[in-house]
Amino acid sequence: MSCDVLTIGLAGLGTVGSGFVHLLSENKEELRARTGCDIRLKSVAVRDTTRQRNLPDGVQLLNDPMQLATDPEIDVVIELMGGIETAKQLIARSLENGKQIITANKALLAEEGACLFRLAEEKKAALRYEASVAGGIPIVETLKESLTGNRINSLEGILNGTGNYILSEMTSKGRTFDAALADAQEKGYAEADPTLDIDGYDTAHKLVLLIRLAWGVDYPYTEMPIRGIRNLDRMDIEFAREFGYRIKLLGRAKMRNGQLEAGVFPTLVNHTYLLARVGGAFNAVRLEGNAVGSLFLHGLGAGSLPTASAVLGDLVSIARHNNRLNSGFYQQVLPKANILPPEQACSTYYMRFMVKDDPGVLRDLAGALSDQGVSIAQAIQKGQSEGAVPLVFMTHEASVQAVSKAVDNMRRADFLLAPAICYRVMG
Ligand SMILES: NC(=O)c1ccc[n+]([C@@H]2O[C@H](COP(=O)([O-])OP(=O)(O)OC[C@H]3O[C@@H](n4cnc5c(N)ncnc54)[C@H](OP(=O)(O)O)[C@@H]3O)[C@@H](O)[C@H]2O)c1
Repeated sequence: MSCDVLTIGLAGLGTVGSGFVHLLSENKEELRARTGCDIRLKSVAVRDTTRQRNLPDGVQLLNDPMQLATDPEIDVVIELMGGIETAKQLIARSLENGKQIITANKALLAEEGACLFRLAEEKKAALRYEASVAGGIPIVETLKESLTGNRINSLEGILNGTGNYILSEMTSKGRTFDAALADAQEKGYAEADPTLDIDGYDTAHKLVLLIRLAWGVDYPYTEMPIRGIRNLDRMDIEFAREFGYRIKLLGRAKMRNGQLEAGVFPTLVNHTYLLARVGGAFNAVRLEGNAVGSLFLHGLGAGSLPTASAVLGDLVSIARHNNRLNSGFYQQVLPKANILPPEQACSTYYMRFMVKDDPGVLRDLAGALSDQGVSIAQAIQKGQSEGAVPLVFMTHEASVQAVSKAVDNMRRADFLLAPAICYRVMG
């Protein structure tokens, strides 16, 4: 790879790919000044080559991304297609052929990343992925480079803009989940199939990558407890507000006595915390290092130019021959994390029960909780009617196991008119 000219092959010209092509020409002079290289986009692969594309003169349009992997002129392959199989093949074949890689594909790296990182290590190649977590927020490099003088104690993030937009609309405008989701889809924030976003899987993909960067261990995606915000009830947003909290979809990880506790959950966050104030489609990451203390990064976690900004940052690093370790750790093949069994995790809880408005129900409910050692810190009882009334508790700290057992034992109680709702509260 000569540093006078760096030749790029781009796979994917959708939201992120077209932002990248735009920025490459808009910031051409700055990129040259920072790298000393002429960065030349040679070829772009898409699915449909018959569609009109906005590409600079001389750029070749291909419909087979594998041609990028075998083109000897191409130094860097940038994968912005998404999906698992073709993207994995493209990256593997490009690495085999001595190319450097940039990708924004968190699903691929979280689910199948281990073999690609191993191959990159073998080939002494860069496999860079700043855009894959929190879009324009430079959290990957921050963990990989700037914070390496720290031991990271914990991190938590709002890592999915679609989910955060839905929760923000429900909170600020009193919308139902369905109305807020439909609005997010209309504005282009949510996909036609929003499963990855609202069921928490996208947040979990990103959390797996952050855990690798923060602790140098692999927390298998398939073992992570994941719960999303689908069908979250507006009523819970209102009760949370009465207690002084906002509900956010958080990815969280914490090292406790050498064991890693992690997961994705809708979580009550005290309204005075910065995380509670992250609105709309924004993302944020908060982390705690043993030297730096608490750190908070906030910005656009998706979108054409913010995500392309992260891709370009990776490209500049490659052009500067920053031969940094891809994982951020000397040992590239990461050991499995020592995982705290999810049922042993402890938290304070928000719990809502829809019950018959009968005398003695509060006593029976409190009894069922206390039988499992779950004690109540605050309670709200609303309304008096013939139908179901909500009884809402904030608990003291309790284990997941104790809360699940208490809820399980209550399932057949005749005073309970709907399944219990339980959310963790951020301590
Ligand atoms: N969108 C964001 O804000 C964002 C933020 C962070 C990370 N990411 C990640 O960035 C990646 C790209 O996302 P995006 O939103 O830009 O996707 P997108 O808008 O759907 O664009 C995908 C592009 O890839 C092309 N493509 C897909 N499969 C292909 C195949 N088999 N062969 C050749 N071309 C193929 C498509 O071609 P056609 O144009 O012909 O359909 C399209 O140009 C994903 O991994 C995503 O998770 C996205």
